[in-house]
Amino acid sequence: MGSFACSTWTTFLCILLSVSTIGAIYTPDWKSLDARPLPEWYDEAKFGIFIHWGVFSVPGYGSEWFWWHWQGERNPFYVWYMMKNYPPGFTYADFSPLLRGQFFDPQEWAEIFEASGAKYVVLTAKHHEGFTNWPSPNSWNWNSVDDGPHRDIVGELASAVRNRSLHYGLYNSLYEWFNPLYLSDKKAGFNTQEFVRNKLMPELYNLVTRYKPELIWSDGDWEAPDTYWNSTEFLAWLYNDSPVQDVVVTNDRWGKGCSCKHGGYYNCKDKFTPGELPSHKWEKCTSIDTHSWGFRRNMKIKELMDLPTIINDLVYTVAMGGNYLLNVGPTPDGMIPPVFEERLRSIGAWMKVNGEAIYASRPWRVQAENATVPVWYTSKGSSIYAVFFLHPMQYSFKLSTPKTTESSVVTLLGNPEPLRWAPLPSSGLVILLPELPPTPAQAWTLKLDGVY
Ligand SMILES: *[C@@H]1O[C@H](CO)[C@@H](O)[C@H](O)[C@H]1NC(C)=O
Ligand SMILES: *[C@@H]1O[C@H](CO)[C@@H](O)[C@H](O)[C@H]1NC(C)=O
Ligand SMILES: *[C@@H]1O[C@H](CO)[C@@H](O)[C@H](O)[C@H]1NC(C)=O
Repeated sequence: MGSFACSTWTTFLCILLSVSTIGAIYTPDWKSLDARPLPEWYDEAKFGIFIHWGVFSVPGYGSEWFWWHWQGERNPFYVWYMMKNYPPGFTYADFSPLLRGQFFDPQEWAEIFEASGAKYVVLTAKHHEGFTNWPSPNSWNWNSVDDGPHRDIVGELASAVRNRSLHYGLYNSLYEWFNPLYLSDKKAGFNTQEFVRNKLMPELYNLVTRYKPELIWSDGDWEAPDTYWNSTEFLAWLYNDSPVQDVVVTNDRWGKGCSCKHGGYYNCKDKFTPGELPSHKWEKCTSIDTHSWGFRRNMKIKELMDLPTIINDLVYTVAMGGNYLLNVGPTPDGMIPPVFEERLRSIGAWMKVNGEAIYASRPWRVQAENATVPVWYTSKGSSIYAVFFLHPMQYSFKLSTPKTTESSVVTLLGNPEPLRWAPLPSSGLVILLPELPPTPAQAWTLKLDGVY
C-alpha cells in the first residue's frame, strides 16, 4: 500500500483514495489479523455439522487416520489387518476407486442437516491424505473428479447446503502425510516452501475463489510454524481482498503454537471442554462416533454418543459461549448412516421446542448451578434460560441464582401457560413445574423474563 501526502488542493481526492483502501486494513501479522471482529452470523449460528469424507471412508477401519497408522507408524494392528484381508501389494491408492458415492445425494444430506437444526456445515475438502473432494488443478489424479466418485463433492454440496440457507464451510488440512514436496520441505527443516508454493497455496486460493466458503476450518498445522505455511499472508488476502472478505470465519490452526492463540475463533484441541467461561469465541468439535471422525465399518452402538449426551454437550458448550460442531462420517457409497441421521433429526426435534435458548444466545452472568437438578444458563435480550437434564421427580423446582421482581414471568418452553413461582427468602425462586412433556433428549428449558 502506498502512503499519500495530502497537499491542500488534493485533500478531497486524497480522502477518497484513503476511503477506497479502507477495505485493505489487515496486514500479514497476528496483531492485525487477530483484531478482526468475527462476522456475526457465526456466533448466532451456535450449531454446525462436520463431515469427514474421503478415501479413508473406504477401508473404514480404525479411523480416518488409517493410512498413517498402516504405513506411517506401521501399527501392527493395521499392518496385520491389511495382510489378512487384502492381496499383497495392495496400496492405499487402490482404495480410491472404491470411494464410489453411488448414493451421494447432496440435497438429501442438506435436508438432514437442516432438519437437525444446524445452521452451518463444514466438509473435509482435503484431509491429511491429500485427496481433494473437488477437481483441484494441483492434485492430479488424486481428486474426486478424476478418481473415486467422479463428482465435484465440494461444489455439489455447496449448492445444496446454500439452497437451504445454511452457511457453508470447508475443512482443509495444511499438511499431507506422504506428499513428497511436503516431506522434502520437512527434511530441510521447513526452510524451503516447495509444498506451500506448489500445492497448499494454489489450492487454498482455488477453494476460496471457486466455492466462496464462509468458514475455513484449517488443520494439520502442528509440525511447522505459521511462517512456513505463510498463514498470515493468506489470511490477510482472505480478509482484505477475497470474495468472502466480509463473511468468512476461520479457526486457529494456522501453525505450531497458534492453536488457542491466533486466528478467528478457537478450537484449541479436538473436543475442547473448558472449565470456565473462555474470553474468546470458541467452538467444540466432536463426533457422534466417539472413536472416529471418518466412517468405520466396525463401529458399535455403545461407542456412539446417545441423544441426551449430545444435547447436554451442546447446551454446555453454548452456555460457555462456544459453538458446537458435530461430526458425521458418511459411507463410501455416500450415505449418512441411518443411526447418525436418527441422532441429527432428534436434535432438530429438540431444537424446535428449545432452540430459543440456543440460537443467538449469549452466556449469562452465571453459567451453571446445581439447583433441584443441575442446570445450564443462557441468555437473550432480557430473557434467561435454564436448561435441565434430569427429571426432577417433583413439582417444586428451585433455582438459587436468578434475582426476581414482582413482574418476573416463568415459562417452560413448549408449554403455553406461565408457571406459578415464589421468591425464596435470600435469593432465587421456587417454581411449580407442570407435568414435563416426554422427550427422548431428557432435557427441558425454563424461560425466565424480568429476572436479573
Ligand atoms: C432447492 O431446494 C428445494 C427444496 O427446498 C428443491 O425443491 C430444489 O430443487 C432445490 N434447488 C436446487 C437448485 O438445488
Ligand atoms: C510467503 O510470504 C513471503 C512474504 O510475503 C513471500 O516472500 C514468499 O514468497 C511467500 N511464500 C510462498 C510459498 O507463498
Ligand atoms: C454440580 O455438581 C457436580 C457434581 O457434584 C459438580 O461436579 C459441579 O461442579 C457442580 N456445578 C456447579 C455449578 O456447582
